[in-house]
Amino acid sequence: MWTCEQVVGASLDVEEVLALYRASTLAERRPVDDVERFTKMLGGADLVITARLDGRLIGIARSLTDGAYATYLSDIAVDVAHQRRGVGRDLIRATQEAAPRAKLVLLSAPAAVDYYPHIGFKRHESAWTLDALG
Ligand SMILES: CC(C)(COP(=O)(O)OP(=O)(O)OC[C@H]1O[C@@H](n2cnc3c(N)ncnc32)[C@H](O)[C@@H]1OP(=O)(O)O)[C@@H](O)C(=O)NCCC(=O)NCCS
Repeated sequence: MWTCEQVVGASLDVEEVLALYRASTLAERRPVDDVERFTKMLGGADLVITARLDGRLIGIARSLTDGAYATYLSDIAVDVAHQRRGVGRDLIRATQEAAPRAKLVLLSAPAAVDYYPHIGFKRHESAWTLDALG
């Protein structure tokens, strides 16, 4: 059985996390080739949950939270070899438990659009995004 725990993002081994992003397919939609930027993404996230099995990193949830009102779940990734066993559900649960009064908000990757309603998320009809300046 895997274990989920809250960790300090900056304390993680960036190469280990990069390997997980690749093993989950999320690397296709994240700037994994820009290690400086990726390292900043990891260190800047103030709510990071990892899932490990026998010490091996098999899942991660990387969020930004104010701890009281809103948590933005930026990335969730589970190694394809361990998907559909409940790891993702546990990562989301642990993310919620770290800031229980905060509402979880996210933008779904195309591959996961059917996942979120399946585990209880509601679609928001007035979500808006503004592209990065550069
Ligand atoms: C999306 C992802 C995090 C889900 O993690 P997971 O550990 O495989 O999911 P779980 O095992 O917790 O799944 C819980 C339930 O959702 C179902 N489910 C899992 N992935 C699903 C998907 N893509 N579409 C629909 N249902 C899905 C499971 O079958 C399970 O159903 P059950 O409770 O009826 O048995 C994982 O598949 C992943 O890393 N995908 C690639 C990266 C990605 O797209 N991340 C999302 C970025 S927004």
